[in-house]
Amino acid sequence: MNIRVRPNIHALTAYAPPWTGLDRTRYLRLDLNENTRALPPEIRPALERFWESGAASRYPEYLEFLPKLAAYVGVDENQLILTNGSDQGIEIVLRAFLDPGDGMVVAQPEFPIFSHAAKIIGAQVQGVPFNADLSFPSDSFLEAINANTRLVVLINPNNPTGSTVPMEIIQTVLARHPNLPILVDEAYFEFTGITCLELLRNHSNLIVIRTFSKAFAMAGLRLGYVIAHPEMIGELNKVRGPFDVNACAVAVASAQLDLLHLSQGYVREVMTQGKPFVENAFREHGVQFFPASANFMLVQPLDRDQAVAAMKEQGILVRPMVAPSLLKTFRLTLGPLEEMEKFITKFLLYTNKLKERVYP
Ligand SMILES: Cc1ncc(COP(=O)(O)O)c(C=O)c1O
Repeated sequence: MNIRVRPNIHALTAYAPPWTGLDRTRYLRLDLNENTRALPPEIRPALERFWESGAASRYPEYLEFLPKLAAYVGVDENQLILTNGSDQGIEIVLRAFLDPGDGMVVAQPEFPIFSHAAKIIGAQVQGVPFNADLSFPSDSFLEAINANTRLVVLINPNNPTGSTVPMEIIQTVLARHPNLPILVDEAYFEFTGITCLELLRNHSNLIVIRTFSKAFAMAGLRLGYVIAHPEMIGELNKVRGPFDVNACAVAVASAQLDLLHLSQGYVREVMTQGKPFVENAFREHGVQFFPASANFMLVQPLDRDQAVAAMKEQGILVRPMVAPSLLKTFRLTLGPLEEMEKFITKFLLYTNKLKERVYP
């Protein structure tokens, strides 16, 4: 093609999720940290109302939903922006603060959309490696913030490592750098219950992003949101398009917030049944894994590639990691007990550590 593309775009590779091109519906999908179930049937009437209202042919309005979301989050409406998935929240924040050449500090390996979005802008990623045990590299992270830094990113918990950021570090960064935007990604908040939101009261440089993709089973509908000081929201609002968030996603999210016990029940099942079941099985059978605080974890089998291929053959998708420090691991999405039993049965059969008679 004889058309000039910006050099930093030309140098990029398109972001391709794993198993692109595969019909994922044929598998138990433990590869993308989604909610492993379909939307609950109790949500269906909201979709029918959406259909009947004719809202699909009108540009979306968010007036009714915003107060509901504000009540759920515990902030004022003017502290929120809806986004097209939290991916768009990430993009909006980076576009608002980073010029080409500016620095973004982030612990690595991180959720790759951050670096990808930074590279599109031409910003410089100031990556700080996680500790060898995948704990958060507190000292080196604080040291990495320098005169070139224009944005600090803390992903809590981080995907794919599952590591949590110590709350004191978030506090320290906010207090030490009151003139720098500090972006905290809380995509997995509903699973961890960990949030830094109360720091918003004293720190107008804090920006938090969250999503309906995970606990609320809405990854396909694309809805996220940004929480920040009203003035910060005012600036970020200039970057988002007026209709970027689709009305159907908002209708479903509204029903999810009305029926909060449904998503909370799922989270409880995953965190109090599915997850401990997997951890116990791994411990019992000497499978190495990295303890994590949300609905996913890194697993380090004896032969990673063989294990991933064997699982796929058995109808289960897991995600082989591509970051150089994680090449021996795959990421496993955690689900309710019945799915984790299925996974463990197949996984242990593969590793030859358990005979078929124990898990028929
Ligand atoms: C840490 C983190 N942030 C953001 C996202 C993006 O989620 P979405 O765009 O579906 O809201 C993900 C998705 O996996 C994630 O793991």
